[in-house]
Amino acid sequence: MTTSPGLAVVDLTVRYGDVVALAGASLTVDGGRVCALIGVNGSGKSTLLKAALGLVRPDGGSVAVLGATPTAARRRGGGGIASVPQAELIDAAFPIDVRTVVEQGRYGRLGPTRRLRAVDHDAVARALERVGLTDLARRPIGALSGGQRKRALVARALAQEADLLLLDEPFAGVDLPSQATIGAVLREVADAGACVLLATHDLAGVPALADEAALVVRGRVVAHDVPDVVLRPETLARTFGLGAAS
Ligand SMILES: Nc1ncnc2c1ncn2[C@@H]1O[C@H](COP(=O)(O)OP(=O)(O)O)[C@@H](O)[C@H]1O
Ligand SMILES: [Mg+2]
Repeated sequence: MTTSPGLAVVDLTVRYGDVVALAGASLTVDGGRVCALIGVNGSGKSTLLKAALGLVRPDGGSVAVLGATPTAARRRGGGGIASVPQAELIDAAFPIDVRTVVEQGRYGRLGPTRRLRAVDHDAVARALERVGLTDLARRPIGALSGGQRKRALVARALAQEADLLLLDEPFAGVDLPSQATIGAVLREVADAGACVLLATHDLAGVPALADEAALVVRGRVVAHDVPDVVLRPETLARTFGLGAAS
């Protein structure tokens, strides 16, 4: 086992043209932990997740996943980095069934034949079972409700058995039972040793869900601690600008 943190972001700056999305953000999350990224719209949460996936190029600072660059971590084979994108980014009309979506989680592990083996089919079946979609495995992804579709994407990430799991607003537009299922699955993934980082608007759910919370304000992580500390009214007031705090 490596002793490198699951994710180590150091003084990261990311720009989109003239827009500074991250301005020296630092965040370290260890394996076995669920960390909730919180912050207002536009604060840089999604950009931080994209940087951890290696999808945006840093203008300064560094990102390491298990001691490697995100791109190297993704290419290393095996679990690597799994991501659950925001629902809005999924093309619901794409004619693909639930099982095929979940099978995508195994693609990085396939041998030269590119065929799924028994171990892959087992992982897919287990992932479908854990999110309660076994009976809907042959349903087109576009025919699912928002909550079911999100659970399918979580199942794909589960099947990948990644070391780092990134989720962008996994509870947005998702029914309460699906939220509970997803939350329980994230806990299990972390308990199995992976590092889980999710961006969420649902502050009320954070203490039950996450081991730690990181508050992002204007492209920086300004507080990172156990949820009860980060969610203290005075911390939020200071950083969200929700009125006077002394
Ligand atoms: N593709 C993009 N092109 C230009 N600006 C972007 C792009 N994506 C995000 N931004 C800007 O970067 C900042 C951070 O955005 P984002 O990381 O999406 O924040 P959050 O997820 O917290 O809402 C915002 O000012 C946003 O408008
Ligand atoms: Mg976002």
